[in-house]
Amino acid sequence: MALLSVEHVTKRFGGVVAVEDVSLGVESGQIAGLIGPNGAGKTTLFNLITGLYRPDSGEIAFEGETLLRTPPHRIVRRGVARTFQNVELFPTMTVLENVLVGRHSRGERPASELLGELGLDAVAQRRTGSLPFGTMKRVELARALASGPRLLLLDEPAGGLGHEEVDELGALISRIRSSFDLTVLLVEHHMNLVMGVADRVHVLDFGRKIAEGPPAEVQRNPVVIEAYLGSERPQHATA
Ligand SMILES: Nc1ncnc2c1ncn2[C@@H]1O[C@H](COP(=O)(O)OP(=O)(O)OP(=O)(O)O)[C@@H](O)[C@H]1O
Ligand SMILES: [Mg+2]
Repeated sequence: MALLSVEHVTKRFGGVVAVEDVSLGVESGQIAGLIGPNGAGKTTLFNLITGLYRPDSGEIAFEGETLLRTPPHRIVRRGVARTFQNVELFPTMTVLENVLVGRHSRGERPASELLGELGLDAVAQRRTGSLPFGTMKRVELARALASGPRLLLLDEPAGGLGHEEVDELGALISRIRSSFDLTVLLVEHHMNLVMGVADRVHVLDFGRKIAEGPPAEVQRNPVVIEAYLGSERPQHATA
């Protein structure tokens, strides 16, 4: 049984079908990539999994039980944590305080251990808003880990990072998967990163799932290449 299962999920915003009949499963322990051109529906799918939005139809289950009647804060308690495409931290709070916000009864790891694991020891007492962007992204990751998740959803963790930072992030994601016994669903435009760390890759385009498979296979799939080549197109199609 998949740890996370998304079945025939559809979400509309007015005339826009942001997610259309999408099904995917993420197995326990996997790092799964979720890719697709801008506006493909990746963040919307994260918002559906975390309960910020509810699907118009379809089912989302975690550990075999539906998430659709669970409010967002309880979805976190059930073991699903995320980071955001646009970093969402409390800028005037310190790094340590931001990480402590992520903790609740389920989180067993002391914040100090998390800060160490993510190389944030030295900045623990700094105000988050004064830190470089790449460091803020690691703070957000630490906060997500502080809730003791089984499933971690990362929405473009490499966005805005330099080349070296992206390489380090890939290594970090693999390392935390093992050390925190995590399953990861990774949204990323940075192909080298996704293809380097993912066990399996799912591809969305215009809200629909167009491909799924091992990274090397997905990378040479003509349908996927075409979706990316054609992605210089103006706006998301309306239904
Ligand atoms: N709250 C909303 N209200 C209206 N339309 C929305 C809303 N959220 C998303 N959309 C639309 O749904 C579609 C999918 O958007 P989404 O943000 O999920 O794409 P994405 O794959 O995350 O793109 P990106 O790679 O640019 O982050 C887009 O057409 C977007 O404009
Ligand atoms: Mg997005």
